[in-house]
Amino acid sequence: MSRTSPKKSSPLRADDLERTLEFDFVRATENAALNSLPWLGRGDKNRADQAACDAIYGVLDHTHCCGTVIIGEGIKDAAPGIFVGERLGRWTRGSPHFDIAVDPIDGTTNIAYGLPNSLSVIAASATDGRTHHMRHLPSFYVEKLAWGPGVTAALAQGLPPLTLDLPVEQTLAAVASALNLPVSQLVVCVLKRSRHDELIRRIRQCGAALRLITDGDITAALAPSMPGSGIDLYLGIGGATEAVLTAAALKTLGGGMLVRTWPRDEAEKAVLLQECGERELRRVFGIDDLVCGTSAIFCATGISDSPLLPGIKVENGKVVTTSILLRASSRTVRYMRTLHDLRHKQVRLRSGAV
Ligand code: FBP
Repeated sequence: MSRTSPKKSSPLRADDLERTLEFDFVRATENAALNSLPWLGRGDKNRADQAACDAIYGVLDHTHCCGTVIIGEGIKDAAPGIFVGERLGRWTRGSPHFDIAVDPIDGTTNIAYGLPNSLSVIAASATDGRTHHMRHLPSFYVEKLAWGPGVTAALAQGLPPLTLDLPVEQTLAAVASALNLPVSQLVVCVLKRSRHDELIRRIRQCGAALRLITDGDITAALAPSMPGSGIDLYLGIGGATEAVLTAAALKTLGGGMLVRTWPRDEAEKAVLLQECGERELRRVFGIDDLVCGTSAIFCATGISDSPLLPGIKVENGKVVTTSILLRASSRTVRYMRTLHDLRHKQVRLRSGAV
């Protein structure tokens, strides 16, 4: 543990600013969860998403920071905001600069059906206002391979590097040996999609256990890094935006991830080739390529129950949210259970408080 006792007059350091502002980011995801709760199970994912965006704006419009959205909505859904390049925060002179990645709801379909595994997520990285720390991935999907701290430790001790080109059988064998388990005891999480049929077949053939999820791969990719999740590895093709948010969290949790652009079809490939070139298209990104530097804040509030967080509940007339707040510079993992008394609390919205 390092101890510091700064003089009262000493200037604020970047991590002091993070320590203060991170709570506004949690307020924003809490607010998004509160405002999307009425849409849980109502069959309308767009209205739920709209409610979450409105609530995130509602908090960040009052926050003293200069935020630039690096990862926002828009590619995947006909989203109501929050778009790449947009400014968030008050942008008052002297306020700290942050790159911001936001997924107002990861698991919009889950919300619409009232299914588990939906949450509101924001990640941020303090910058000097001139260079960006977060990478915007231009594609819709990326290949992902995410593991937990046990595998990271084994890699540091000489386990041959994992790659996205290893046959899945070899990846499972390597992860099993890193965790000192037989492959038959390994638990692998994969999104249930037809594009994964062959992958799923091969994982089963190896004897590993599968956990198939319908949606929400931020939680899934973080699961191997969460003690007690029962998941050892996350594999497959999922949203590109979700990968950057996941990377911000893994910087605190000590897990790792590899990511590579996965064009959906020839048309998208042609556009991507023109936009970023062949080399970038084939490039494999690690977590530090997606969020560089030491500053990474990640916060999420559960909407419906997930392995990462309990969903929002109503208890004795109060609405209870549970959030996780991670700060990479200190590796702090903080859980917050918050009781909101909506008779007194204002849910701040850009469109006007309710
Ligand atoms: P949304 O909440 O934006 O719908 O994303 C849910 C999700 O399951 C992500 O977690 C995942 O990365 C992505 O969709 C997978 O995309 P697809 O549903 O097109 O396979």
